[in-house]
Amino acid sequence: MALPKKVHIREVGPRDGLQNESTWLETNEKRTWIDLLSAAHLPYIEVTSFVHPKWIPALKDAKALAQSLTKKHDITYAALIPNQKGLAHFFEAKLDEGAMFISSSETHNKKNMNQSIQETLPEIKQMTADLKAEGLNTRAYISTVFGCPYEKQVSMDQVLRLTESLLSYGIDEISLGDTIGEAHPLQVERRLDILLERFPADKLALHFHDTKGMGLANVYTALKAGITTFDSSSGGLGGCPYAPGSSGNVATEDVVHMLQKLGIETNVDLPALIHAAKWIETKIDRTLPSHCLRAFYSHTTS
Ligand code: HMG
Ligand code: MG
Repeated sequence: MALPKKVHIREVGPRDGLQNESTWLETNEKRTWIDLLSAAHLPYIEVTSFVHPKWIPALKDAKALAQSLTKKHDITYAALIPNQKGLAHFFEAKLDEGAMFISSSETHNKKNMNQSIQETLPEIKQMTADLKAEGLNTRAYISTVFGCPYEKQVSMDQVLRLTESLLSYGIDEISLGDTIGEAHPLQVERRLDILLERFPADKLALHFHDTKGMGLANVYTALKAGITTFDSSSGGLGGCPYAPGSSGNVATEDVVHMLQKLGIETNVDLPALIHAAKWIETKIDRTLPSHCLRAFYSHTTS
């Protein structure tokens, strides 16, 4: 298939990136990073999550952060929501879009959500109705679509059943998560062949973690299959605390750079994006995996 002309980037660094970090960032520092990401014209930023602070202490200031943001009118500021309690906090925080989540493997769902898949589904259905009643867009992640850290193989039938259920609730976009970075191009091609026979491409996003260095190859494979929405993380920061061995999402700068080289429009300002990644790298105080970040700074400092 021909490559798309335009691609939508969902920046998940402030949530997926920070949730796994032991370095505590102050609320005003998180806000500065989000401001820098906004200045790069990213159309969508997942800024935090309303999970239990005991489970994810790095994001325990979710409400204060959300309420402190200087929001731009053309950017969607979203957050992850696990349950009704999180939804109540989300509504108080006045963000633009709620992203719910479920795993396609029972063990990961249990460890991540402390409940079974069958218990999570009706909660997502109700939260979707509540978000829609407020006129908000909705998103849901399906995790472990390409492999589970506990159960290894994940059946395609299970992924199809969950995608079908979530879309039947009226969810606007499903993000298919390669939670531990197991996906490879042949698997992505095969799984998307089956998914796209049943569901429209504009309802699906791909969420690749770059644990084994397959992130960009997987994005390219999904582009060729007709996918036009991708999640990525500034600097390549991230991981899932309940998925041992997972590393960060594919770096936003690397995805945008590749898309630009392919002649695909994103409207994102790459130098501003690299500046935002450099800023968070300095705060986190370790080398982040982004290739473009390294390349840019080695060229400009040599
Ligand atoms: P639980 O302990 O089972 O909750 O946690 P509970 O319903 O039994 O309630 C226990 C206590 O927690 C109660 O308080 C509740 O009020 C409170 P008490 O009465 O004892 O004082 N509580 C909450 N407090 C604040 N915020 C809440 C909340 N809910 C209950 N939202 C829960 C269940 C879902 C909350 C917990 O398991 C949790 O927070 N899980 C989230 C873990 C997480 O964030 N994991 C990483 C997400 S990333 C991911 O999944 C992958 C993704 O990136 C895509 C990919 O890569 O594939 C999305
Ligand atoms: Mg993730």
